[in-house]
Amino acid sequence: MSGIFIGIETSCDDTAIALVDSSQNVLSSVISSQIEVHASYGGVVPELASRAHERVILDVLMRAFAEADMDVGNVGNANIEAIAVTQGPGLAGSLMVGMAAAKGLSIGWGVPLVGVNHLEGHIFALNIDNSNLELPIAVLVVSGGHTMIVISTAQGDYRIVGETADDAAGEAFDKVARFLGLGYPGGPEIERIARNGDPHSIKFPKASLRQPYDFSFSGPKTAVVKFVQANRSVDIADVAASFQQSVAEVLTERTLAAAKEFGCKSVGLSGGVGANELLRSMLLNSGMNSGFNVYLPAKQNCTDNGAMIAVAGRYVLEKFGPSNPNIDAMPSLRL
Ligand code: KG4
Ligand code: ZN
Repeated sequence: MSGIFIGIETSCDDTAIALVDSSQNVLSSVISSQIEVHASYGGVVPELASRAHERVILDVLMRAFAEADMDVGNVGNANIEAIAVTQGPGLAGSLMVGMAAAKGLSIGWGVPLVGVNHLEGHIFALNIDNSNLELPIAVLVVSGGHTMIVISTAQGDYRIVGETADDAAGEAFDKVARFLGLGYPGGPEIERIARNGDPHSIKFPKASLRQPYDFSFSGPKTAVVKFVQANRSVDIADVAASFQQSVAEVLTERTLAAAKEFGCKSVGLSGGVGANELLRSMLLNSGMNSGFNVYLPAKQNCTDNGAMIAVAGRYVLEKFGPSNPNIDAMPSLRL
């Protein structure tokens, strides 16, 4: 297969479209964030998210073509091979906007439609800069909606060995940030203010669960709230730094432990929280010290983006062929 894949991602609050060629070169990757739409609510409002996708998606498409020096109105010679689109999991109304756009382009341009699992997309973000990952690999997928450790022994083969029992790690960052009066999304805000704090000043608990690779972030979040309520004069920077430290440690420790137990050669990181510098450096250093290859996608490929959907879509098309043009959005799709 030699043409360009268009990847469309609208599962949550980013409207993202990328053009990726057959050598996995990202020709363009445009992401329109809805931060301003949701900021005053401290979280994503589904109804507002779908409307915002609908408002900007054509503009994002045109910008993606322009950035790749292509003309969206004249794709005759552009060698577009397929339209890959996130089918789920995600917010129903948001997914439907991307799916409707993808179906229209697929029919209009006479190219296959490929439905992609958003989580498989996050895992394929690792392939954007590394086409030959050494398998087996333990991938930590950690975002606002998901926190899981996935063991992959072959491309397309996934075993979830750890998951969160309650909040996703990104969700915990967002909730703690809101409690501390910081902005939205919370992860980058906590990371910013944590630079002025002492990460070892407060010991927040790391919840242990019966399953060794599972996580819980609801307890640590409540611990932050209780600590601040009991210590009103505490420096918020110390709280942010200590919370970030404990989340990064627990994510790193459990991912490396799973990688060892399941005989992995490599570990990888993806999802929005994968943009966190402390988590990246901890996983890189501890992973390399334990003898693993460590794959860290560029930050813009960790948060939701169209390139990961295009790259996963190429694999899905090669393996399973085109999707039925009538596929529906699947908000609860599992990996
Ligand atoms: O993957 P993503 O863009 O969307 C979902 O699929 O959820 O992840 C968004 C999440 C948010 O919770 C946000 O606070 C978190 O990723 N996040 C971060 C950072 N950047 C984004 N968390 C910690 N540190 C960051 N630098
Ligand atoms: Zn995501």
